[in-house]
Amino acid sequence: MSIKLPSNSEMLSPDFTFGVATAAFQIEGANTADNRLPCIWDTFCATPNKVKNADNGAIACDHYHLWEQDVELIKNLGVDAYRLSIAWPRVMDEKGEPNQAGLNFYQNLLKKLKAEGLKVFVTLYHWDLPQHLEDKGGWLNRETAYLFKAYTDLVTKELGEWVDSWATFNEPFCAAILGYELGIHAPGLAKPKYGRQAAHHILLAHGLALPVIRANTPQAKVGIVLNMNQSYAASEKTEDQFACLIRETLDNQFFIEPLMKGQYPQILKDVAPQYLPTILPGDMAIISQPLDFLGMNYYTCNHNAYEPQNLFKDVKNTSPVEYTDIGWEIAPHAFEELLVNLHKQYELPPIYITENGAACADEITNGEIDDNQRVRYLNSHINAVNNAIEAGVDIRGYFAWSLMDNFEWAEGYSKRFGLTYVDYTTQERSIKRSGYAYRELLNSRKNQF
Ligand code: NOJ
Repeated sequence: MSIKLPSNSEMLSPDFTFGVATAAFQIEGANTADNRLPCIWDTFCATPNKVKNADNGAIACDHYHLWEQDVELIKNLGVDAYRLSIAWPRVMDEKGEPNQAGLNFYQNLLKKLKAEGLKVFVTLYHWDLPQHLEDKGGWLNRETAYLFKAYTDLVTKELGEWVDSWATFNEPFCAAILGYELGIHAPGLAKPKYGRQAAHHILLAHGLALPVIRANTPQAKVGIVLNMNQSYAASEKTEDQFACLIRETLDNQFFIEPLMKGQYPQILKDVAPQYLPTILPGDMAIISQPLDFLGMNYYTCNHNAYEPQNLFKDVKNTSPVEYTDIGWEIAPHAFEELLVNLHKQYELPPIYITENGAACADEITNGEIDDNQRVRYLNSHINAVNNAIEAGVDIRGYFAWSLMDNFEWAEGYSKRFGLTYVDYTTQERSIKRSGYAYRELLNSRKNQF
């Protein structure tokens, strides 16, 4: 079982970047070390019945202490690039002053990554808002967008030397809608108006940060990472088609349309005007400034039927399909379709697939992990990217999620997405079959050129 691309694939050229990705809260642990402040996920984990098995980020993969060994692991996988995030609560204190110990951690890590010849892709916000800011309203408070700008200024000045690419936010949909509208992610608030207002302030924060990043690190590329879903109507019925349109609009268009066109989707103005965010004059121009790249995270597709209260509900595919351990349908064709559709709908900047991967119920037997489903998943999805490139979509890179098993948010440690297995008792890392298969694909390029 292997991961293979057609021998003439552009993805095998030296210009295409292959990497692995992680995020601070999911791997670092050490959540009180060196004056790190509590963040909304620490609070959420400590709230009963929010996270499976009451898991938390106190230790995670202990990457804060094991980072040197983890850089070796990244090298060992043969990738060109590593995507990580900076923890805001580690690098800034409550007064907005730098926390040097936290900055030192990232300086050492980034220096080492560059010394090893890796390209460094940094996300500024991967969901770990300092709790003291949530106490003042979090992303419902417009002021948070301006504080994000100050945080960005600090990080880009202190760490910019070693960074090739900045993403302002990871998956604003999850931070805003799962966190403030559906209540299944931190901070656990649940009102539609909240979700959309939080989304607007996150997009505003993104726009406010862009000129700061460009001024401080003119050599680096700047973009944002969106999660994208391909939606299908459960039937030909008009109402199910409508349900599908609403779901797709909330997932994708509500974020990409303001970024690319400076406006929120008309359909949401028509069907749910009461939930629209408060927008101040000038906001949409700030949000829709040009980007160097769009990061896109893709995992699965969904099927929708009409439901009067929410206008849509998710239903299972009626055809026999395969699911991963987290219950997500495996749909590489949907990935290709999504990329091609977005390319037709918008004048997009170059795309990086900043995350793609599968959760599997991995087991370690005699030191080996035979995650065949993940190998097949990666193979089919990498080939879907290749098909989209052949169809004319400008895609420059692909990052597998994830370097190693880690804290999977509301699922805690119960779901494993890694190319590397983590034994949480010993912190031992073991590369899975998928990690070896990925490395083999990447190494095959060296034989070509
Ligand atoms: C997207 C998120 O960015 C990442 O943090 C998460 O672990 C994966 N999806 C898998 O759910």
